Amino acid sequence: MRFKISPNFLTVLIALPIVGQPVCFAQSLRKEAQKLGLLVGAAVDPARFSEPLYAEMLASQFNMAEPENAMKWQATEPARGQFNFTAGDQVVEFAEAHQMKVRGHNLLWGVFNPAWLTEGHFTPDELRSIMKNHIITVVSHYRAKVFAWDVVNEAFDRNGQLKHTLWYDRPGIGLAGQGTAYIAQAFRWAHQADPKALLFYNDYAAEGLNAKSDAIYAMVKDFKRRHVPIDGVGLQMHLMDLNQIPTSVAANIARLAALGVQVHITEMDVALPMNASGKPLHRADLSRQAKIYGEMATICAEQPGCTAFQTWGFTDKYSWIPHYTRGEKGDALLFDANYRPKPAYRAVLKAFAQAARKNPKTIERRLEIEHHSLQ
Ligand code: G3I
Repeated sequence: MRFKISPNFLTVLIALPIVGQPVCFAQSLRKEAQKLGLLVGAAVDPARFSEPLYAEMLASQFNMAEPENAMKWQATEPARGQFNFTAGDQVVEFAEAHQMKVRGHNLLWGVFNPAWLTEGHFTPDELRSIMKNHIITVVSHYRAKVFAWDVVNEAFDRNGQLKHTLWYDRPGIGLAGQGTAYIAQAFRWAHQADPKALLFYNDYAAEGLNAKSDAIYAMVKDFKRRHVPIDGVGLQMHLMDLNQIPTSVAANIARLAALGVQVHITEMDVALPMNASGKPLHRADLSRQAKIYGEMATICAEQPGCTAFQTWGFTDKYSWIPHYTRGEKGDALLFDANYRPKPAYRAVLKAFAQAARKNPKTIERRLEIEHHSLQ
């Protein structure tokens, strides 16, 4: 199955067949991001590629895609030793057809694993072999197709302690009590399977300076010192409360970059409180949301060490937030449910354009970092 959008589409100015503001496709996030050497991405669901507006918007606005769920353990190894790459391959195919990069998510997570794994009562030796086989098989399948992987997802709690998980100590892969040793092992196996892929640690609530981001910083510093192959940190940026926006994000990105790793904003969304009819409770929240998106896009765009800015989906039609909050929050993305651009979209576009004007040299430095890490 090939999902290919007509090349003319990107340059034509059209109005969507719905009431509201027309979308000008001559304008696009990916064009602005390209001037910065920046990747701009969205989490995607390949089951939606057959929806024309979904596919058109994705291809015209973004130069990177990450499967929201299609490369997770449940999707790729639904039964022990039996791999299914169908959905993940569709993401790769779409991306290749539209000159987009694919970010892989994720190889190891303590939750949302298939029942055969969580209820299998495996010994540490068995788990070690299962983990190794999974990482090597998945990364090998996507070698040279997925340019960067979230190798380990969400391993720390808010206090900066390692979470108790199947992989760490319940029962673990034989490295229980040895801190980040199991994480290092995951990175080594991923590197073995694709030495050219960029390998990331990815987490939430670690965007600014706090106990969790301190723990991640310490781990990265230690890994770099010991030559554990880590290339980057993913800052998810799920912002669920307009009154609790992380500060010191720029300082956190700067200190990680100083260690010689890249930072990707991997899962940004900004949830708004909703009323019973599924509309934002306060209209003014759309402007507050735009301001937050704009600020975070500026922080990323102005720092060469921040090499990708990604949102967790792109249309409010398909976002995990209403389901997760039982309808209390929503409208968290850049495009509304009818694919119309929101103030947040324009804020990100403006942030990219301003950053490119403010310091045209950022692009050279960013490309240098990207080039260097791909050696
Ligand atoms: O595929 C089944 C479908 O067959 C079934 O009918 C339906 C009924 O609920 O469930 C479907 O699976 C759901 C899947 O999303 C696809 O919609 C799972 O139950 C649900 O648990 C799963 O949630 C995903 C969650 O990660 C767990 O994997 C969300 O879509 C996804 O947005 C969310 O993403 C995470 C990142 O991976 C890591 N960071 C946080 C982020 C948000 O929680």
